[in-house]
Parts: sequence; structure tokens; C-alpha cells
Amino acid sequence: MTYTFSAGLAPLTGTATRDIFKLLTRPEIISFAGGLPAGDCLPVDAIREITGEIFADPGRSLKCLQYGATEGYPGLRELIIPLAEDLGITGIGADNVLMVSGGGQGLDLLCKAFCNPGDAVLVEDPTFLGFLPTAQSYSARTIGVRPGQGGLDLEDLERKLKEYHPKLVYCIPNFSNPTGKTYTVENRAAVTDLAEKYDTIVIEDDPYGRLRFAGEPVPVMKSFDKADRVAYVSSFSKTVSPGLRLGFVIAHRDIIRKLAIGKQGADLHSSNLTQLIIKTYLEKGYFFPNIEKSLPIYRKRRNAMIEALDRYMPEEFTHTNPEGGLFIWGEFDAAIDTAEIFNAAIARNVAYIQGNVFFAANPPVNAIRLNYSNEDPERIEAGIRVLGEVFKEKIALSRPGNRM
Ligand SMILES: Cc1ncc(COP(=O)(O)O)c(C=O)c1O
Repeated sequence: MTYTFSAGLAPLTGTATRDIFKLLTRPEIISFAGGLPAGDCLPVDAIREITGEIFADPGRSLKCLQYGATEGYPGLRELIIPLAEDLGITGIGADNVLMVSGGGQGLDLLCKAFCNPGDAVLVEDPTFLGFLPTAQSYSARTIGVRPGQGGLDLEDLERKLKEYHPKLVYCIPNFSNPTGKTYTVENRAAVTDLAEKYDTIVIEDDPYGRLRFAGEPVPVMKSFDKADRVAYVSSFSKTVSPGLRLGFVIAHRDIIRKLAIGKQGADLHSSNLTQLIIKTYLEKGYFFPNIEKSLPIYRKRRNAMIEALDRYMPEEFTHTNPEGGLFIWGEFDAAIDTAEIFNAAIARNVAYIQGNVFFAANPPVNAIRLNYSNEDPERIEAGIRVLGEVFKEKIALSRPGNRM
């Protein structure tokens, strides 16, 4: 039996990383492949306490076990406002906020709301691997914009805005997945101005901004957005728990209304239990202390990985040094294919993600993404030592005269 799937989904075959994740359940694998928060940063005791309190209270129990409003659990959107103000986003009310089932759903709803088949969506190359199939599932064309100094290459961005008239420009200005890089203030302001000039919408995807363990914070792009061109998407996945599946979108109320209509067809509303847990978590003041507790853990793991990379990787390897978030990006100045070498690394129980899967166009074969948040410093050191051996061996073999 062959099925005739939609034009959006038919060409999509699932990302290479889904197969990698199947391998990662093996405990002997040291994984730098995922994007999971550290287990030590998941607030198990707080969630146990809150859940116990909810179900000890008949009124709240019934409320969270019933159907609810699409926009969000009563009172929760109001609690997002001070979180947004803390980032420099001012002048918003609850009707500028939509609670979503993870930031990923916010991205999906924005594509659903703005993209017709064939529309262009600009993304930074490289970009979040999950966003590419999301936009493509609405039959949008994803077009890569070159990275520049301190953010997007503004000339390339403007050229592509003129040429493609994109509906959306997707960026991750804080500690990008996959590169760990952050845009400068000037770049954020310039991208926002260009969105206004060329009448498009910027999706500012910011799941990692709160995870800054070095350097100075930079105001979010949405704070420069005088013309309501920026849809800000964030998530509790990396600051509280990814399993709870809760995020939010902040945008002009007309956009929020349209996204809510799209969400009704997707899941009606995000889990009331999850929303009530996060609402109570915020009210009890647990949010910021848990992040404060997490930052030294991530700084230590980043440091362990940087030290190990500098010590064990071949001299042809260069890497980013993120001030927050979960990822380091590395490139080899050598003729090697990191997708092919993956099997040699896995055979020695170490996983990474090949860099080519993060590109809309012209993917390079010599890059890798490394995640440091979900392994302790000892395993990071051991895993990078193995990767260093594997890559040195492959580079030696790839030199002229040594080819097999
Ligand atoms: C850049 C980026 N955006 C969005 C997401 C989706 O996160 P979630 O749906 O768990 O909030 C992720 C997850 O890794 C991400 O890295």
C-alpha cells in the first residue's frame, strides 16, 4: 500500500538525529548529541511539592483536570509579563501572550499562521534543525542567510529580503542552537529595522537566553520592535523541564489571536496540569533560584569541554566558546566528512551531531555540534579524548599519499 501524503509532509523523511537518538539510550554511550538539560537542574522536589498541593486542593484539582482556555490557564499569562519586562519587553498585556506546548509549537503555529505553499522563510545558516522541517511542512521554502560578525550578515539578509520577500525571518539571537553564538545589540536592532523596512515578521526564538553563565546580557530583539514585527518565542524546557512541554509566544495581539485559532486545531490548549504547575512554580518564586543553581553546573561543563577540545582535538579544529546555552560548534580545516566519521565515533561509544543537518543550503561536511549540558565533566573529558583520537586518525588518513 502506498499512501499519498500532503505536499508539505511527503518530501520529509525525518531528521538524521532521530536515528541517532535511538542509539543514545545505551548507557555506555557518552552523548554530546542531544540538547537535554542536566538532570541535576530539573527541579524534582519543587514539582513534587507543587503537584501534591494541587491534588490536595479539590478546587484546583478539578480545574486542572477539566478543559481550559486556548490562550492559557487563568492568571498564567499575567505572570509572563514580568518575565518579559525583565528582558526589556515593555508595554504588553496578557492578550499579547499565548501559552504553547513547548516553544516548538510556537514555531509551528507561526509558520501555520503566515506561510502559504511556496513562500520563503529566511533562516540563519546554520539554524535549529527542528525548525527546517516545521517550515517545510507548510510547503515553505527555507532559504539560508549567512552569519556575519556578531549576528546575521546584514548585507546578505537585505539582499534576500529584496529577492525572496520572505514571510518570516527565523533567528536565535541568544546562544544559538547549533553554534552557541549570540548577536550583538547593533545586529539585533538592525535586523528588526530591516524587518520593518521589508514588511516581514521576525521569529525571535529564545529558549536559551536565561542560561547565561558568562559575559553581559543583551536586550532581546523584541525590545527594539517599535513596529510590532517581532514574534518572541520562549520556553520553560531549558529553565524548568522539557518534559512538562510549556512555552509562550509574545507578539501583537492580532498575531496572538490568529495563533490561538491555529492552536485550537492542534491541541485545543496546553496541558492544564502543566500550566498550573508552572504558574505555582513562578508564584512560589522557584524560577530564578533554580536557574541560579543551574548556571554554575553549565559553566563547569562548558569549561570542561573547552579544555578537553583544546587539549585533545587535532590542530585543524576550531570551535566557538559560548557564554551560555548548551552547545559548542566546531569546524575542521581538513577534508573530512563528519557524517561518515560518526560511525567510527559511535563504535567507540561517543556521539555528536554532524554539522550538515543544520543548514538550509550548501551544508559543509566538516562541522560538528557538541552538547555539554547532559554529561558530567569526567565523561566530557573522556568522550572528547576519544573524539580527538578518532578525528586525528581520520585526518591522517585523508592526507594525500595516505588515502586508502
Ligand atoms: C532553538 C530551539 N528552539 C526551539 C526548541 C524547542 O523547544 P521546546 O519545544 O522544548 O520548548 C529547541 C529545542 O531544543 C531549540 O533548541
